Amino acid sequence: MPLANLHPFQQFDLERIPSWRDFEFNKKNTERDENAANDMEAAFQRALREGSLRDFTSTYFGRAREILERYHWEPVIYEILSEAFPRMIRFYLFLRRRKRSSLAVQGSCHTWQIPLSLLIHARGLAEEMEKNGKRVSEYYALRDDPPLNRWVRENVRPVIESYVGSRAIAPHAHIRVVNTESFSNTWDYMYKDHPFGYYHWDELCHSIPLIIYLRDVSISDGPYSYIEGSDRSPQNLTIRAFAQAISCKLLITDKIDTAHKKKLAALPRIFRAGEMVGSHVDPALFTDGIVKRATGVAGTAILADGFSLVHGGGHPSGGRRSALFIAHRYPRNRLMDIWSAAARKWWQLRGPRSTAHSRLSPSRIW
Ligand SMILES: [Fe+2]
Repeated sequence: MPLANLHPFQQFDLERIPSWRDFEFNKKNTERDENAANDMEAAFQRALREGSLRDFTSTYFGRAREILERYHWEPVIYEILSEAFPRMIRFYLFLRRRKRSSLAVQGSCHTWQIPLSLLIHARGLAEEMEKNGKRVSEYYALRDDPPLNRWVRENVRPVIESYVGSRAIAPHAHIRVVNTESFSNTWDYMYKDHPFGYYHWDELCHSIPLIIYLRDVSISDGPYSYIEGSDRSPQNLTIRAFAQAISCKLLITDKIDTAHKKKLAALPRIFRAGEMVGSHVDPALFTDGIVKRATGVAGTAILADGFSLVHGGGHPSGGRRSALFIAHRYPRNRLMDIWSAAARKWWQLRGPRSTAHSRLSPSRIW
């Protein structure tokens, strides 16, 4: 049986994508691996419904052992499975607390039009940065900008808190100014093989940035772009956790180059998804009707759930963009860190082990 409950952008048939075609793909054990991953996912979904991790943990450990035995305790596979487990515990803690299934009540982003009188300080700084060719500002202290700080507290925080189901506090902020002439060499490679190669999911469940345009942003200025409705489709979170283990821990990169592709192709199929989802799915999935480009005048503010929404953009194709990015902090993250550390410990104590594995050196891992 194929993998169950895949999100439309988790259809990672890499063999069919032109830029992946020349690689040699591992075709062994696909069906047995997919059955094991489906068991893990079914147990995870039950845990979410019932509020207990006990059955999920024993199913995950049991199926992980089966996979490891099948691949003779291959260190890379061991690392993926051990890294994915605490990540799923984090997903569980976030999703159990979440109050609704999507951040925006209508569409996939929450938007506002902020009066320019609240952006005088930020726009002044952005202008300075443009003159000096600076791309990213130092920490932007919102408390030194009381009118904007108050607006964020009164308008944005309630939307976030009513979604995540816990407190959001003192945000971090910074300004980013980019233009094609100076910086296109830092992103051109992302679009070489795939016009939507940069489209991705964010790693953290609490990745809910507020982006405020400080200048008008037209289609060539790198507007925030996303796949309308992609935040509302359920995901296979087991496959997502495997993908995160690779993209965010073992092979940290947003540059899917030849070496990366070769390693991914050699992995069993269940591990071949990616957080850079654009690079892992057929370009034909990105049709005009579902790709939204959030152009807007100065003062346009966009709030999006980067963990659930397939998104990209921010790279001008001919113009420039200056924007203020505001990310809240979440006290609940502390609890999630503690649980995540406990899950790692639990895996080490009670998870699958073999004497063969204990003799392998970590330096053998990628
Ligand atoms: Fe992102």
